[in-house]
Amino acid sequence: MTKQLNIGMVGYGFMARCHSHAWASVSHFFDTGYHPVLKAVAARNDSKVRRFAEQWGYESIEHDWRSLIERKDIDAIDICVPNDLHAEIAIAAAKAGKMVLTEKPLARTAAEGQPMVDAVEKAGVPNLVWYNYRRVPAVTLIKQLVEEGKLGRIFHYRAKFLQDWTISPDVPQGGPGTWRLDVNAAGSGVTGDLLAHCLDSAIWINGGISSLTAMTETFVKERTHADTGKKQTVGIDDAAAVLTRFSNGALGTFESTRYARGHKAAYTLEINGEKGSLAWDLHDMNRVQWFDHSTEGRLRGWTNILVTDGDHPYLGKWWVPGLIIGFEHSFTHTAADFLEGLKTGKPAAPTFRDALETNRLCDAIIASGKSGSWVNL
Ligand SMILES: NC(=O)c1ccc[n+]([C@@H]2O[C@H](COP(=O)([O-])OP(=O)(O)OC[C@H]3O[C@@H](n4cnc5c(N)ncnc54)[C@H](O)[C@@H]3O)[C@@H](O)[C@H]2O)c1
Repeated sequence: MTKQLNIGMVGYGFMARCHSHAWASVSHFFDTGYHPVLKAVAARNDSKVRRFAEQWGYESIEHDWRSLIERKDIDAIDICVPNDLHAEIAIAAAKAGKMVLTEKPLARTAAEGQPMVDAVEKAGVPNLVWYNYRRVPAVTLIKQLVEEGKLGRIFHYRAKFLQDWTISPDVPQGGPGTWRLDVNAAGSGVTGDLLAHCLDSAIWINGGISSLTAMTETFVKERTHADTGKKQTVGIDDAAAVLTRFSNGALGTFESTRYARGHKAAYTLEINGEKGSLAWDLHDMNRVQWFDHSTEGRLRGWTNILVTDGDHPYLGKWWVPGLIIGFEHSFTHTAADFLEGLKTGKPAAPTFRDALETNRLCDAIIASGKSGSWVNL
């Protein structure tokens, strides 16, 4: 029999919309034995939270996340607020015995994330961090192919995530959306915001990173703070370029910036192995580029795989071969795997503990950016 799972959402911004869409649609497509119900949403602004609840079909609202956590009729707390709030909310939710899901990064730093891991593990509550790119079917296929040994020994893992929306010095720090430029709210700049996605995919696909060195830069040193109206020193990294060594002997290069004019969300990755190469581009997210060196020389070349067939990850649950899906589906897949984990008792990854590793890597990048040294992990 299908069980009801009551969701308590914190926040009504970009990610709250993505997650609400996922919770609302997942049981129409995935038979996990659970039916999520949009029970309540908590946020401070009364008219905005009411509007959000109406638009998405939440049954009720709260003005404080603490009241949401206190409610007996909420099973899972879903944290979709700036990074500085993740720890406090997650720890309180775990103590109250709720399942806890949070947006990435787990926390601003690994030190802040560790008590979150301790809290969910002590309480024994299911937990997950929404590193959604793992569940873009093309990326999941890449993971499968690497795991099956299709590339043989891996030599290189290369990823970048480029944007261009903070080039103007008039963009403020702090406030809705631009909290990402305030180091106190975000913890770091592009490293925790963008590179964290690349790092999560990388360690999932290619295993752990054993050492790294980074260059980081803050191009605009002062910005007006939305809270004070005054110019304040900018504490985030605007760009990061990172060299890594993986435990499997592969070399990694990672780059992230919000100063790459013309790029909006250019997340790409490429892996080179002895038997072949694989590449993926978020802007063409349903395709995997595959070079198979075992193919007869005359016919050898890059193959374009449109990842829409029923035997591709997740796709059997959607439309018919050839019909593409989008960014939002990666969140539906995350919700589906979380629910499947509840059913089977085999938790979906990344759990808080898994995601702590990405925070450790981000910390190492920021530290190396300052010191110029290699960091052993
Ligand atoms: N997985 C992804 O692709 C992805 C993309 C964007 C953001 N994120 C992550 O999602 C999280 C939220 O980012 P966003 O883009 O949705 O931000 P946003 O600015 O769009 O929304 C933030 C929300 O938090 C609310 N909020 C702030 N303080 C609050 C409080 N004290 N109590 C309740 N609500 C509060 C705001 O009102 C707003 O609704 C961040 O951790 C971010 O890193 C992930």
